[in-house]
Amino acid sequence: MLTLSLKMSWGAKRRRLARLFATGCVLLYATCDAAAGEGRQIPTAPAEFLALVNPVGDDQIDDSFMKKMARMYKRKCKSCHGVDGDGKGSKAEFFEIKPAAFSAPGYLANRKDGQLFWILMNGSEGTEMIAKGPGTRDNMTELEIWSVIAYMRRVYTR
Ligand code: HEC
Repeated sequence: MLTLSLKMSWGAKRRRLARLFATGCVLLYATCDAAAGEGRQIPTAPAEFLALVNPVGDDQIDDSFMKKMARMYKRKCKSCHGVDGDGKGSKAEFFEIKPAAFSAPGYLANRKDGQLFWILMNGSEGTEMIAKGPGTRDNMTELEIWSVIAYMRRVYTR
């Protein structure tokens, strides 16, 4: 009798867990969907990257910085991420995994600089987002990567 009731309550617990799990997945899916467009979860950077602070401070950002970074964004990012940061650059239609839409509401606000830096340094495996850091085809310095992140935040945060 005791064993039976234990068994039943375990069964009920399991069902509740399964329900919780299912709800969690649905919620997760909805969040990803709003952020990345295609219900895709972009890989998350390791904790040590998430903790990094952008060395480019507000005091370094002036008109000439913004102009320089606008040129860099146009040259190296626009064809995929779009001039408006909406992920709809001219190449985007050919990709199965679409470029991130920086200007989607909440997108940049919900991401740490270290996350963006990690993707820029390492690329996102299996997608057209390839590494941009020193020694890669784009050969951006770490400072240039931090700078383009600071630029994007100012232009595309919604
Ligand atoms: C050839 C196309 C292409 C180019 C050029 C490109 N990207 Fe991307 N980018 C992508 C794709 C596709 C993804 C989505 C990756 C994924 O879903 O895992 C992405 C994702 C990202 C992310 C990830 C955001 C996050 O949520 O973690 C950042 C940051 C990013 N790109 C910045 C840039 C910047 C800055 C440039 C220019 C220096 C650039 N990209 C150039 C295609 C591109």
